[in-house]
Amino acid sequence: MDLFLIIPLSITILVAAHYLFQRLRFKLPPGPNPWPVIGNIYDIKPIQFRCFHELAQTYGPIFSFTIASELNVVVSNAELAKEVLKVHDQSLCNRHRSKGGRVTEDGVDFIWADYGPYYVKARKVCSLALFNPKAVDAYRPNRENEVNAMVELLFNDCTDSVNKGKPLTIRRYLEMLSFNNITRSTFGKRFINSKGEIDSKGKEIKSVLNGLMVKSKRRDKVDEYPPCLRWLLTLTSNRKKDDQETTMLISHQKNQIIRDMVKDGAITNQCLLGTLLTLKEEYDLNEEIISTLCWMIIAGSDTIVITIEWALTELLRNPRVQKKAQEELDENIGNERIMTEEDFSNLPYLQAIAKESLRLHPPTPLMLPHKAKTHVKIGGYDVPKGSIVHVNVWALGRDPNIWDDVNEFRPERFLEEDVDVKGHDFRLLPFGAGRRTCPATQVGVNLLTSTLGHLLHHFDWKPPNGVNVDEIDMSENPGVVTYMSTPLQAIPIPRLTANLYKCLSSMNS
Ligand code: HEM
Repeated sequence: MDLFLIIPLSITILVAAHYLFQRLRFKLPPGPNPWPVIGNIYDIKPIQFRCFHELAQTYGPIFSFTIASELNVVVSNAELAKEVLKVHDQSLCNRHRSKGGRVTEDGVDFIWADYGPYYVKARKVCSLALFNPKAVDAYRPNRENEVNAMVELLFNDCTDSVNKGKPLTIRRYLEMLSFNNITRSTFGKRFINSKGEIDSKGKEIKSVLNGLMVKSKRRDKVDEYPPCLRWLLTLTSNRKKDDQETTMLISHQKNQIIRDMVKDGAITNQCLLGTLLTLKEEYDLNEEIISTLCWMIIAGSDTIVITIEWALTELLRNPRVQKKAQEELDENIGNERIMTEEDFSNLPYLQAIAKESLRLHPPTPLMLPHKAKTHVKIGGYDVPKGSIVHVNVWALGRDPNIWDDVNEFRPERFLEEDVDVKGHDFRLLPFGAGRRTCPATQVGVNLLTSTLGHLLHHFDWKPPNGVNVDEIDMSENPGVVTYMSTPLQAIPIPRLTANLYKCLSSMNS
């Protein structure tokens, strides 16, 4: 028989035998029947969290499917999320990452690293520098300063004669806020000036970030092919070569940028890079590790932009909520000063708005994929070692068994019952929970609450003229993070006196 027939036929038989063996040996969660070799590729649609939610309606709150012979398990309710992230946290805290999406050759990159000595060290040094309560407090002036700078730019743009009364693309301003805030925490510098212009170093940083994004998107694509067929891709295209070249280019660029920063001599202990340099000997950190850690942290800046854009969209669609939040701000802050993070405790409704946005629009709706280090049982089903485990936090936030009027944006629900968002209540897990929970949870909550507070205190928000709020496109982009498919356009109308829009604190550009 022709070799070209024998090889695929043997592979098909082997994979089918492996599948049957697994099914007979283990009690796997139910799920759609896979095709030989390709598994359930055609059952999984691009907006995965919605697709998983639909599959859960048929197969139940725990189901499984196969992509490229790898077993994926999805859980969609609070009890099962607790089993994954608390009861079996220790067994399920590795990450699933594929060759195509690797940022470094050996996964030494914090976000995608397996749980082991390297990961524990990486998390510890990042926490020391950025995420422990003292550091979160120390970076407060940076956060407030950047929110004020964004408000000033919004004010200038919406009051200038060309733009007056016209809608603005809000994402542009949020990107400035988030990027400047995160580069100040990481490198101690901001790269976008008060006019919203990015300098050449900022552009270089963005281009590396885009490179990392392209690679992580490629991860999804490569993963769709069974390992036994991936080699075919390398025969039919220059994929492998391209991929290696991209990895090397990004790696070179990202290390060079860090080297330049260090050479400039302006790095102080008041940023992640400075702290890592100080801890270099003690924690045995080399140049590659220091550089990768910095980049992994900067990569987190997207989530802030996404969350605030969705929140503001909901406020546009719900003028009642907007008005009520403004009344709370006016009552507690008045119109002679601006809000600070110290005001949070007097603004319960504002905090409830932040929670309600995270319930309906978690920026990482499937968290990041976990991987089983050992065999475990979840919900009475076997989850063999090596399975990829997803928690559909988007589905948890819309579970009608937990929440009334699930699709309604009603922050009052969090005044009626105080629900934690930081990983202690398994009904609401926008930041995940357990060992792999988001290390920047407190920073995320503070920045989200503060930005929303400022946007509502300083401006009334209206949809573009002639646009009905029900017509706003609420669809999501596919991917690990869920940007709105169509960037939000909105008209800000200043509601305080002009002097309260000036960002007075000193900045380095
Ligand atoms: C609203 C804002 C944010 C949300 C909702 C969010 C959510 C999440 C989620 C769900 C995970 C995965 C948890 C898991 O897989 O179990 C995660 C991981 C992570 N996040 Fe965030 N995040 C936010 C902001 C940030 C920011 C601003 C940074 C950086 C400063 C950041 C850095 C990270 C890192 C490094 C990880 C990987 C942790 C690990 O693998 O152990 N996040 N985040």
